[in-house]
Amino acid sequence: MRTLVTGGAGFIGSALVDRLLAEGHEVDVVDDLSTGTLANLAAARQLDAPLTFQGMDIRVPELIEYVQRRRPQVIFHLAAQTSVVESVRRPIFDADVNVIGSLRVFEAALGAKCPKVIVAASGGSLYGESPEGAPPLTEEASQAPSSPYAISKRAMIDYLRSYQRLFGLEFSVLALANVYGPRQRFSSEGGVVSIFAKQLSDGAAPTIYGDGLQSRDFVFVDDVVDAFIRAIDRGDGDLCNISSATEVSVRALYDEVARTLGCAIDPIIAPARAGELRRSVLANDHAARVLGWRPFTSLSEGVAATVASLGPR
Ligand SMILES: NC(=O)c1ccc[n+]([C@@H]2O[C@H](COP(=O)([O-])OP(=O)(O)OC[C@H]3O[C@@H](n4cnc5c(N)ncnc54)[C@H](O)[C@@H]3O)[C@@H](O)[C@H]2O)c1
Repeated sequence: MRTLVTGGAGFIGSALVDRLLAEGHEVDVVDDLSTGTLANLAAARQLDAPLTFQGMDIRVPELIEYVQRRRPQVIFHLAAQTSVVESVRRPIFDADVNVIGSLRVFEAALGAKCPKVIVAASGGSLYGESPEGAPPLTEEASQAPSSPYAISKRAMIDYLRSYQRLFGLEFSVLALANVYGPRQRFSSEGGVVSIFAKQLSDGAAPTIYGDGLQSRDFVFVDDVVDAFIRAIDRGDGDLCNISSATEVSVRALYDEVARTLGCAIDPIIAPARAGELRRSVLANDHAARVLGWRPFTSLSEGVAATVASLGPR
């Protein structure tokens, strides 16, 4: 199948490219390399595989003509401004990439008669706080996007619903929890597993903000990629949480990474950061029903793979 991946040089996008090629699909990557790198595609580019790379900003009008030429049968839309902090600093830029850029991708899909777009949304920021003691949040939970990033990502979903009704463009939305794994940038906001792993393996003490009991739902990148693949022919018009449905405190995560590395370094404890969620955990039963998807990588396996990807110490 001819496929196109926006953001294909990024952390999740490049893992998706690897899997698509392994399954025999043709892949065109569109990426402006603003946060992604060609190094993420190095292994894929070494294969004798049908992969092309187009260095292009998704916001430019030329995207439409480019996609029309490539004629993908499905578009995976992962290119985005992904930083909450940056979205607060530059809300217009955030909306430009995440709203206008996404609309450009949807217009390109229509222009190329591509029947389906599968997009990466943000589960954590879409729903906001998971109430203490409550079960993991389902897709029916009330939505409370508060940062400009959360709002622009939510607007993308609203536009998709509108494009489906008005123009018949099919879609699936994957609302991702905290994704982690090899190739995640150490500098990325959500990249706490990579940050802990890199600092501990360098012999440095990572910082934990607050009491360390704030919790997240960590889902391994290969599991997330599997959900994107399943959405090619399932989950039309639907939104699915892609999560582990397991709550892990930042302190427990730290201990897991330290144990994997055989390190006994104590973290630096710093004051809690304003605006950070206390608890975020998402149910994944809907993805099981709709996509036949369940996460298959345990936290210890995923942490071990992330640590191994850093190479020998
Ligand atoms: N990592 C997570 O935990 C997480 C959680 C929820 C949602 N997501 C979403 O998943 C997607 C991928 O995120 P990631 O973690 O791989 O981030 P990433 O920064 O590694 O990937 C984003 C990619 O998009 C490219 N890009 C950015 N702006 C672009 C533009 N204007 N034109 C073309 N390319 C552009 C970047 O160069 C990069 O390669 C994003 O849509 C993000 O919002 C990620």
